[in-house]
Amino acid sequence: MRARILGTGSYLPEGYLTNDDLAQWLDTSDTWIRERTGIRERHITKTGTVEMAVKAAEAALANAGVTSEEIDLILVGTMTPDYFCPSVSCQVQAELGMEHAVCMDIGAACSGFLFALATAQAYLTSGMARTALVIGSETLSKVVDWSDRGTCVLFGDGAGAAVVGIDEKGVLAIDMGSKGSKGMALPCPGIPLQNPLQDASEEGSQKSYIQMDGQEIFKFAIRTVPETVRRSLQAAGVCVGDVSHFFFHQANRRILETVAKNLRIPLEKVPMNIERTGNTAAASIPLLLDEWNRKGSLVRGEKLVLSGFGAGLSWGSIVMEW
Ligand code: UT7
Repeated sequence: MRARILGTGSYLPEGYLTNDDLAQWLDTSDTWIRERTGIRERHITKTGTVEMAVKAAEAALANAGVTSEEIDLILVGTMTPDYFCPSVSCQVQAELGMEHAVCMDIGAACSGFLFALATAQAYLTSGMARTALVIGSETLSKVVDWSDRGTCVLFGDGAGAAVVGIDEKGVLAIDMGSKGSKGMALPCPGIPLQNPLQDASEEGSQKSYIQMDGQEIFKFAIRTVPETVRRSLQAAGVCVGDVSHFFFHQANRRILETVAKNLRIPLEKVPMNIERTGNTAAASIPLLLDEWNRKGSLVRGEKLVLSGFGAGLSWGSIVMEW
């Protein structure tokens, strides 16, 4: 038996900022941002990660035809929880009354949804759970420095979700990896040390903002994504040409085009929404998947690849039958 996505949902906040809006206080332009990244606008939340996760989850449950009571596992990929505790997944549980669910957040940044889906697959196929709610939800707008044109133009807020059950068809193969030794190419510091054993002069004042070696991450992405996709396809016994859609993490249009060229995938098979969303980290893949699902662009039984990469560094690919 395999883990299979039964339904999807997503949520984008109403508020948004266009490139021209950003150019009012940053030394940047719509042309620069569109040409270098493919992004035109990004949505920004006024509430936070939990509320977006709940809205995406409600939509996914309705789409799957599954009730709250049936969910016995909630996994949320996020790097921007509203609280350190309770977890986003526990707060989603409380909001939606999923009393029988085990809840945990998965911290793998932009690979968060991929890693959460892989965890759901392990729980479901081992019999530890029967029906999982897997969410990616991010409020990146609170961890970017809005005066740093090198990072803030890239990110946006949003959430996506999938209800995952057990079926004969579903996940065929998974490839995942992490490289902590390169983690400082994309850090976002936590709360600085502050305790009675420290001298006041030692107390940190660093803000929790995303910093990034953009070119290093670009090179990492265009090298690693084709590798992980090839490994997962080989493990599944599936050829590139047999896959109908490749749902890649939406970080930069140029990255997606380069990866597609490397894998010899026609761009029609590479869905993109980065123009409207920016990079929403763990939310990006389920958001995109839900948009394509709701448009009726996915046919049950066809083969899909989901692939993400990002901070950690981390990466992963899942080959599945839809
Ligand atoms: O989920 C994973 C997260 N991160 C990523 O995927 C990021 C991967 N990297 C990238 O997408 C690209 O490296 C960026 C879009 C971040 C940057 O594009 P780039 O083509 O690598 O630009 P660059 O960093 O080499 O900068 C070129 C120039 C610099 O000016 P100088 O030194 O040549 O005078 C930058 O200061 O562009 C400047 N620049 C900007 N100019 C206008 C950087 N950001 C901006 C901006 N507007 N927003």
